[in-house]
Formats: sequence, C-alpha cells, structure tokens
Amino acid sequence: MTRALSARQRTLATWWAEGTGTESREGVIAEGAIRSGKTWAMVLGFLLWSQRRFSCQRFIVAGVTVEALKRNVVGPMGEALRQLGWAWSFNRSESRISIGTNTYHLFGANTERSQDALQGLTAAGCYADEVALFPKSFVDQMVARCSVGGSKLWFNCNPSYPSHFFKTEFVDRADELNLLHLHFEMSDNPTLSQEVIDRYERMYTGVFYDRYILGLWTLAEGLVYPDYADALEDERPDADAVEEWAVSLDYGTQNAFAALMWARAGATWHVVGEYRYSGRDEGRQKTDADYVEDMRAFAAGLPRGTRFFADPSAASFIAAMRRAGFKVYKARNDVMDGIRETGACMARGDVRVWSGCEGLVRELSGYRWDSRGGDDRPVKVEDHSCDALRYGVASLRINEGRKARGYSMWGATHGQGVHRHV
Ligand SMILES: Nc1ncnc2c1ncn2[C@@H]1O[C@H](COP(=O)(O)OP(=O)(O)O)[C@@H](O)[C@H]1O
Ligand SMILES: [Mg+2]
Repeated sequence: MTRALSARQRTLATWWAEGTGTESREGVIAEGAIRSGKTWAMVLGFLLWSQRRFSCQRFIVAGVTVEALKRNVVGPMGEALRQLGWAWSFNRSESRISIGTNTYHLFGANTERSQDALQGLTAAGCYADEVALFPKSFVDQMVARCSVGGSKLWFNCNPSYPSHFFKTEFVDRADELNLLHLHFEMSDNPTLSQEVIDRYERMYTGVFYDRYILGLWTLAEGLVYPDYADALEDERPDADAVEEWAVSLDYGTQNAFAALMWARAGATWHVVGEYRYSGRDEGRQKTDADYVEDMRAFAAGLPRGTRFFADPSAASFIAAMRRAGFKVYKARNDVMDGIRETGACMARGDVRVWSGCEGLVRELSGYRWDSRGGDDRPVKVEDHSCDALRYGVASLRINEGRKARGYSMWGATHGQGVHRHV
C-alpha cells in the first residue's frame, strides 16, 4: 500500500525544509488534475512541517464541509500518521485532532457565513483542501488568522473557470505572494495504473474533462452536452424489461413546465417520455391543480408509489402533489454537479434518451454555456427539460449507483470512501 512519492509529490511534502531553496516561501499551491496525489502528499508535508516546526500551536484544516474533510483528508491523515508511527486523537464532536502538543481544527467552508467560525482564532498555519470550492471570504479570513511567526499556507484544488478568484488572486500571483506553485497531472500519482486513468478519463466530458483530467483552468463554452446525440435511442425498452420507474420535473407557470418519465432496465436508465406545457406559448397559465391532473394522466399506468423528483423551489406545487397522494421529493439541485454527472452518465451509456422526447432533444441541441459572465453557468433559456434531466440523474443518483453496483473506480486505497467533490 505504501508507495514512494513521485518527484512532484516529494516537492510538495518537503518544500519547507532547510536546504530545499524554497523554505522561505510563505506557502504552497498544488493545483491540477483530480486523483493526481495532491491531497496525499500535502497531508504528509503539512503534518511533517507542523510537527517539526511548532509545539502548542493551533492549525486550521478546512474543506468544503467537515464531512468532506473527514472523508477526503482525515482518512489519509490517519494513514500517514500510522506510517509515521505518531499517536493522535480525534475529538469528533468538536472536530479537532490532537497530535503531540498541537491541535488541528476542522472547518467546513461552504457558505459566506463559514468564515464566522474562524473569528478570533490565531493559527500557525492552514491546510485548505479543494480551496477553489470555498467562498473568497473564507480564504481571506483563513489567511488573516495565520499570524504566528513562521506560519505557512497550504492550498490544493482542481481547476475551475479562468476568472475564478483563486486563479486570479492566488495562482496567477503566486510569485508576488511568495507562494510555491506546483501543477499536478495524473502521472504525478505513482499508484494509478493506466487502466484506472483510462476509466477516469471516461467519467468526464466537455469542460469537466479539460479541468479534472487535463488540469486546465478552462472556460465553459459551447454546448453543455456536446455529445448528447450519442445518448439518443430510437427504441424504448420493453415494458416487461423495466424494473423501476420515476418522474423528474421542472416547474413553471409562465415558463415551460417540463416532466420526464424514467425507466430503468438493468443498469441503464432510459428517458422514455415527456410532458411539456408553456403558459407563455399557450397564452394561458395552468394552476397547480391543473398540473396535478396533468401529472396524473402522464403517470397513468406507472406503479403506485413511483417517485417524483421536483424542482425544489416549487413548494406550492410539491404540497399540492403530496395532498393528491403522489410520492414527491425535492430534487438535488446543484447545477454544476448535476451537469457533470449527467454528461458522464450519457457518455457511459448509463442514461439513454428516447428520440421521441422532442422537447428534450430540441433543448439538448441548443443548451449552451453562457461564457459572457466568465464563470460557470448555462444560458437560462429553453433549459426546462434539461433541468428535469439533471434533476433525474442527480436525484436517482445514477452516477453513484454505478459505484454502488461495484464498478467502483474510486480505488479507495485507504478506505476513506467516495470522494464527492473530486
Ligand atoms: N505516493 C502515494 N502512495 C500511496 N498512495 C497514494 C500516493 N499518492 C496518491 N495516493 C493515493 O491515490 C489516491 C488519489 O490521491 P489524492 O491525493 O487523493 O489525489 P488528489 O487530491 O489530487 O485528488 C488516494 O487514494 C491517495 O491516497
Ligand atoms: Mg484531493
């Protein structure tokens, strides 16, 4: 299980040591491809540095959420400590780890208010995992808290869009800020076989491929699902072959209301039907009661208890559906995660779309990234069926189902489980 570090990992783990020529840097940024060994080498370096240089000090260890930290960082940390032979204790309820006389405080950094938890702390260093997913306020506050002499900053992330604050204010200004900048590629992880690398490459499409596989800070441009046509099918599965049904929907009164019918046959989820109504196009808005009746007709013939996944903002409609006896859940609604998972599922053939879903197919052919804003967002026109599609993928957890079914490519070397935020 233990492997020697690659050359770049060794640099990341030891840059702070006497005689390396980089010891006077105030910190390090490791950015690039997923699974390239950034976290593993950084955890090791951070532990060695903090234990050699300090006693009775506090350190910030931050991740998108404390849960993500426990999964992605505390696991490798335990393994590194085991290999180093150092004793440690983890106070779960207070989210802190004690090693020797030092204390490592775990923080989640997913909202603008997360930085409040850092107020008043004086730290000798910080470790930020997946820092490009943090709000800027948290990063600024974290840097400000590291005021002990000799403190250093440790940042790692996968690329995002090119105008992202961490790219423009940290990565691009690394020299000026006296930070060591290390760019990682998958080949920098000595434990990945070519087979595993090939599998990762198949998991990402479009802009996610450029960022997570190639490690580039690229702008999302052009079609959101450039290869959607490969996921179309002219025949639907036989009803006998269907093991599970579901409906996902995007609610609209003026805008279109779009629902998709899903059918699982074996490991593949097929989109086999659609419902669309546009109050604007038809010149008449429908009420929640009208839509409930339309859903009853749309889902006629589906088994009782079939799950509906609805636009989570459609509170009144969800309530009306529930009163009418439907089993309705709020859809998982993270746009980027949903698009990434949907692209991957279509590319792998885990999601197929019947070409008779004309509204969805038309939308897919025109669903584009809005590159004018410089960040990640699809153009918000004619996206209703596309939203319903991603609600279905995200809520049915089709992308995760594949892992659960044992096609895992997460190769959890240290048993730390699924790496949700890549
Ligand atoms: N030198 C190494 N020895 C043993 N395992 C490693 C080594 N480098 C990376 N790994 C393992 O490879 C996987 C991916 O590495 P990780 O550091 O999590 O990548 P990243 O943070 O770049 O996504 C993890 O399971 C990690 O523990
Ligand atoms: Mg990582």
